[in-house]
Amino acid sequence: MEYATNQYALILGVSSGFGKATAIELAKLGYNIYGVHLDFGSNKEKAEEFCRYLQNTGVRARFFNANAADDQKRAEIIQAIKEDFKNYEDPQLRVFLHSLAFGAIKKFFSENPEEMATKKQIEMTMDVMANSLIYWVQDLFKEKLLGRNARIFAMTSIGSQRAMMNYGAISAAKAALEAYIRQIAVELAPYRVTANAIMAGLTDTPAAQKIPGFKRMLEYAREHNPFNRNTVPEDVAKVIAKLADENFYWINGQTIAVDGGESILNFIEHPS
Ligand SMILES: NC(=O)c1ccc[n+]([C@@H]2O[C@H](COP(=O)([O-])OP(=O)(O)OC[C@H]3O[C@@H](n4cnc5c(N)ncnc54)[C@H](O)[C@@H]3O)[C@@H](O)[C@H]2O)c1
Repeated sequence: MEYATNQYALILGVSSGFGKATAIELAKLGYNIYGVHLDFGSNKEKAEEFCRYLQNTGVRARFFNANAADDQKRAEIIQAIKEDFKNYEDPQLRVFLHSLAFGAIKKFFSENPEEMATKKQIEMTMDVMANSLIYWVQDLFKEKLLGRNARIFAMTSIGSQRAMMNYGAISAAKAALEAYIRQIAVELAPYRVTANAIMAGLTDTPAAQKIPGFKRMLEYAREHNPFNRNTVPEDVAKVIAKLADENFYWINGQTIAVDGGESILNFIEHPS
């Protein structure tokens, strides 16, 4: 049985992939976990089971099954955390992770207009995968919930710098997300709060499986990764758990690749 501390983490996208792995890793360190996810049917049950699993490790865990991009839901969740905090001794929200995967995987251009990403889809992608980061951090700040030494992380991908078929809207969201992280880093440094984007290597998760040709991309990445394997969510979770250490505040506003070196390679093979 692990022990709970007065430290809390709030994880958007807690039920799967990087969010889930990070919740497990932080709970091992005694962090109590607040999680937001959007799941239905059997995935909703799995998320509830995961919340109980965390509680059984000895920490407090409370999940909210809600659209994290909904203003009303965000306000309600933040109020619920505020209310909870009244019951605890010196609670510190130390980690906030934005790990939401919910975007339009579509081309911008096609001879079949049905295949083209619409304004609504592009705006929805920007809202969930980028803009919501700012609204959450603004509200946490306004409500004075961000503790001194709080660490903000947002999950990004190589798509912020490179073009990929069907990934245009998400690429734009990732570029915006990294810009938002830099801005948060600058504006919140006086409060001893840091922000960094984590650029994970290609990882087999439910969201990534929706990208057409993902299996082939995964194999290619594995073959070319210097470690000859793909990134797994636990690789990222371990890094976040270390960076959450209060001594590491000098790493601020960066996009940190956590991919075994995958992103430094030139993926175009030269004939030997
Ligand atoms: N898998 C990869 O290869 C990869 C690589 C780099 C970056 N990323 C990024 O990591 C992040 C997490 O992706 P993942 O691969 O762990 O996906 P995942 O499918 O495993 O997890 C996504 C999580 O987001 C939640 N979610 C989605 N939309 C939501 C919404 N509107 N409100 C609340 N919760 C919502 C889901 O319930 C789930 O918990 C994404 O931003 C993704 O772009 C993924």
